[in-house]
Parts: sequence; structure tokens; C-alpha cells
Amino acid sequence: MIILKFAADVISQLKKVRLTKFSIGFVPTMGALHKGHISLLEKSKQVCEITICSIFINPTQFNNADDFKKYPVTLEHDIYTLEKNGCDILFLPDITEIYPDGIISKKHFDLGYLETILEGKYRPGHFQGVCQVVNRLLEIVDPTHLFMGQKDHQQCMVIKRLLELENLNIEPIICPTLREENGLAISSRNLRLNEQQREEAAEIYKTLLSIKQKIKPGSLHHLKKEAEEYLIKRNFKPDYIEIAEANNLKPVNEWDGIADLIAVVAVFINDVRLIDNILIKD
Ligand code: PAF
Repeated sequence: MIILKFAADVISQLKKVRLTKFSIGFVPTMGALHKGHISLLEKSKQVCEITICSIFINPTQFNNADDFKKYPVTLEHDIYTLEKNGCDILFLPDITEIYPDGIISKKHFDLGYLETILEGKYRPGHFQGVCQVVNRLLEIVDPTHLFMGQKDHQQCMVIKRLLELENLNIEPIICPTLREENGLAISSRNLRLNEQQREEAAEIYKTLLSIKQKIKPGSLHHLKKEAEEYLIKRNFKPDYIEIAEANNLKPVNEWDGIADLIAVVAVFINDVRLIDNILIKD
């Protein structure tokens, strides 16, 4: 695996690659790598001739300074894991490579409705920061395929919108959420949970599964309320628990039994915020 720290080196390395290879898969990450990231890398290796991963903890997407400070860093382990799993190139930039003109963005990405709901509502500015960094990374890497995880459903939608806004001919590929044995969605933030909290956090997925099992056409009000009460009773602090249309995230209160739905949740366990979702198809 080649490790590159400078944008100019990535650009010139990939220029050479493009002479003989047609597909370049890109897996952007913020490190603290886990099985979910590795599944993206594996998918990219199946689909593309070359795979490049990046590790950069992007300050502009954290709306909470403490969350940024406490974001887990496991760089040595990450490099070892990427190498072991056959990553071809690791881009490991520092902040000046990503934001040579400083972190204040002059560009606003028109994400419309997506920015006003759920993660957009509870994490103001978060998706502008995601777009800012992903846009810059795509400018440097210029991949043919971009690999992302279904766990961040709304982020996947935002990044698809970014590709449209910037007219980028890149194929987004969304990979399934990986889970612990108890159902907890695998996430870098799980590293901030102790053993007991990890067990308790399994209730999040149980709640989503229960929505999926119980849902029926008609009013969804009771189901949402029941799920929220269930989580509160178990000491989670929910930001939201919502059932929405899967393709646009508009909340659904009356279900026609036909539209594809997604149940989405964001909760705190102490000061650790976890998100998860489940697709509901009949
Ligand atoms: O999902 C993440 O890890 C980040 O939001 C991303 C896409 C790498 C941008 O910093």
C-alpha cells in the first residue's frame, strides 16, 4: 500500500494509474476503522481495479466541539488494517492539504429540504461540512466509484445530491450496514461506549426491528410514540425517531402500504450520539 500525504502526489500517482486502469474506487473515512469500513474496501476491490481510501477527521462537519475532540483516533491500527485488507493507496492528508485557503468555506451547497430535517436539523452545518470535504477529496482523487455505508442513509443522499450539484460523473455505491452480534450498528463512535453501554445500545436496533415487524398501513403515530417511549424508558435521549419515505426522507404519518419507508433514529447514551436506520419494504 502506498501512503500519500500530499494532494499533488495523489493527483500525479492516479494520473499514472489512469494510463492502464479504468476504474478507481474511493472510500473516504475519518479513521477509527472497523468492519463496516473494511466491507466498503472489499466492495471497491470487487468492483474497481484500484482502491484508494482516505483518512481525515474533518473539523468542519462537527457541530459540537467536544464530539470533534473526542473523535476516536487509531491511526496505527487503521494503516495496518488497510494494508492487510489490500487497499492500494491511502491518502492521509493534514488540514492544509484539504483546506489550503482555510476552513471557512466560500461555497454553499444547495441541499434544500435534506438539510432541514433529521441529522440536518439536529446537527446544523454538518452536511455543509460533509459536502465541503467530500467535494475537495473528489477533486483530488477523481474516482469512478464512491463507496458509502447505508448506516449514514441521509449522508448518502446528501452526497448523491453533491454529485448532481457538481456535475460529477461518479457512481455512488451504498453498502449494507454491518452489525455486532447483538444488532448494534458498527460505528467508530462505539469505541466511546463501555461494555455495558454496548449491550444497552443493542436496544436501538431492537426498536427499529420492532417498528418493521409491527408496521401496518394507516396511522403511524402510535408506532412512533411507542418506539420513542421504549427508548426513553431505557435511558436513551432521542434526538429523533422517525418513519419516512426512503427516497426523500419526508416523514410519513399515514402509510398507504405501498411507499418504501425507512425508520431512522438518533439517540444519546450519555454524551455519545448514535444513529441507525432500517429499510421497510413490504
Ligand atoms: O462518513 C464519514 O466518515 C464522513 O462523514 C466522510 C464521508 C468521510 C466525510 O468526512
